[in-house]
Amino acid sequence: MDESQISLIKNSWNSLLPQKEETGSLFYQTLFQDDTSLRYLFGTNLTGQIRKFMDMINFIVDQLHHPDQLEKELKALAHRHFQYGVLSVDYDTVGKALLKTLASQLQEEWTPETETAWQELYRTVTQTMLNSLKSPA
Ligand code: HEM
Repeated sequence: MDESQISLIKNSWNSLLPQKEETGSLFYQTLFQDDTSLRYLFGTNLTGQIRKFMDMINFIVDQLHHPDQLEKELKALAHRHFQYGVLSVDYDTVGKALLKTLASQLQEEWTPETETAWQELYRTVTQTMLNSLKSPA
């Protein structure tokens, strides 16, 4: 990710922040429509989960200039996700649902450049998480 991509991510994320809860709930709605079987991994009350997920994306966006800090957090997150029973294929499903949600919320701000920047961010995050599972927590 280059500097211009980091700016696109930060600016688009900031535009969404006022609708953080709405965006988070749309994300889970989209995810469970795309793969119903994933619903059973989560508890019955999604409100807390929506907040935690959105706060974590916020943290990631916030730490883009601090890769060491980010890597440390993502490594711990990956190990917790392994415990939840999340499989590597599920990361693709989540990525697609996340990007679809961002596209529908951002509308005209979702330019091809912004889409590429988010694809790149999600790819890097997933790669860091999955690679860290190859070494002990
Ligand atoms: C960029 C990728 C992801 C991020 C940032 C993320 C973020 C989070 C956060 C912050 C939590 C709260 C608990 C914790 O911190 O450990 C969580 C829980 C969870 N996530 Fe993720 N997640 C990601 C990918 C996934 C994927 C691919 C799945 C697969 C379906 C998934 C399923 C879950 C489940 C099952 C829980 C526990 C829910 C519960 O306890 O009810 N996550 N996630």
